[in-house]
Amino acid sequence: MKSIYKSYSTFCSKLRQQQLLRQLPKTRQFRYDFSSNDYLGLSQHPALIQAAIAMADKSGVGSKASRLIASDQAVFHALEHSIAQYKHSQAALIFSSGFQANISVLSALLDSKVLGAAPLVFADRLNHASMHVACQLSHIKQQRFYHADYDHLRYLLEKHKSSTQPKFILTESVFGMDGDQACLSTLIDLAKKYNAMLYVDEAHATGLLGKQGYGLTEDYGSEIDVSMGTFSKALGGSGAYVACSHVLKRYFINRCQGFIFSTAPSLMQVAAMQAAWELVPDLQPQAKALMQQAERCRATLQSLGFDTGLSSTHIIPIIFKEPEKTLKAQAFLARRGIRVSAIRPPSVGPNQSRLRIALNVNHTEEAILALIEGLTEYRKHQL
Ligand SMILES: Cc1ncc(COP(=O)(O)O)c(C=O)c1O
Repeated sequence: MKSIYKSYSTFCSKLRQQQLLRQLPKTRQFRYDFSSNDYLGLSQHPALIQAAIAMADKSGVGSKASRLIASDQAVFHALEHSIAQYKHSQAALIFSSGFQANISVLSALLDSKVLGAAPLVFADRLNHASMHVACQLSHIKQQRFYHADYDHLRYLLEKHKSSTQPKFILTESVFGMDGDQACLSTLIDLAKKYNAMLYVDEAHATGLLGKQGYGLTEDYGSEIDVSMGTFSKALGGSGAYVACSHVLKRYFINRCQGFIFSTAPSLMQVAAMQAAWELVPDLQPQAKALMQQAERCRATLQSLGFDTGLSSTHIIPIIFKEPEKTLKAQAFLARRGIRVSAIRPPSVGPNQSRLRIALNVNHTEEAILALIEGLTEYRKHQL
């Protein structure tokens, strides 16, 4: 083995010692699965499957090139048109993944050469890794405000009030690891007052929240400069969108590396996501029932003494703090046929390890009862 391999190996050995080494889970069937982000069960929906098959029959599997290189396709425009219409934005642009959208859109927006000055970025501390990576790639030292603490954000904005540097506020609307919600009306007011651009990641809200289910930014239209969301969670597929102004769309097409230098999303995936997008309003009774089920599940867990953090949605963390306890709880539930995700640093902060329970519309009362009983048994074992 070349000597350079030792550095990589040492890195992983250190993670193992701290109970932080990540490994791909074994392929196996579980009776109950609380680890998936397929919140509306759309990954198995016949309308999506049919749309994908019909498109593959017509146009094949791959999209063959970047949209700027090959001739552009009507399916991309149709989906972007629907997104802009329902998000009340002037335009939309689609990407192959949420991670790709965040890193390429944000690093384009934060380009100091284009802006003429280094931007000031105010970011919620619990934002998704892709947003942090985008700032790193742009060599930005973020002003990170305490999670959803808008007094702290106001304090930071006030501190930099006289700066002429362009300002940006970055947040998720539903936080993926905590299941709580940002207060968008407060963020809009702050963005207006301090002349900051507002960027909202709707990965975990798209399909479930907002007037028609298109996410929390749906209710605010153009008051939010960029509303990013993914197709990879409640919409059951893969890919992402940004809803924005015409000016920004034109800029993104010319500056987002992940758009310019990457093959366009597969046409069958886009066709399936068009079908998913159209189904969203009709699925809102199920989405509402999911939130009510989550409320009951959370209340029971809390009454049993589990720490569910700030959750107010279908994502419920059970915070054990130490990675070791979290992994043991996960293994205990797995032996009972229940799959949950164990989330450890760096996905969450130190001393914040947790099981992440992601409820979806197909979870029965029986499944939730099995989960609660499993957790209660685990705790008895620990005492
Ligand atoms: C808040 C948030 N943004 C972006 C992403 C990345 O999305 P994708 O999985 O489509 O790359 C995720 C995925 O976990 C996420 O939770």
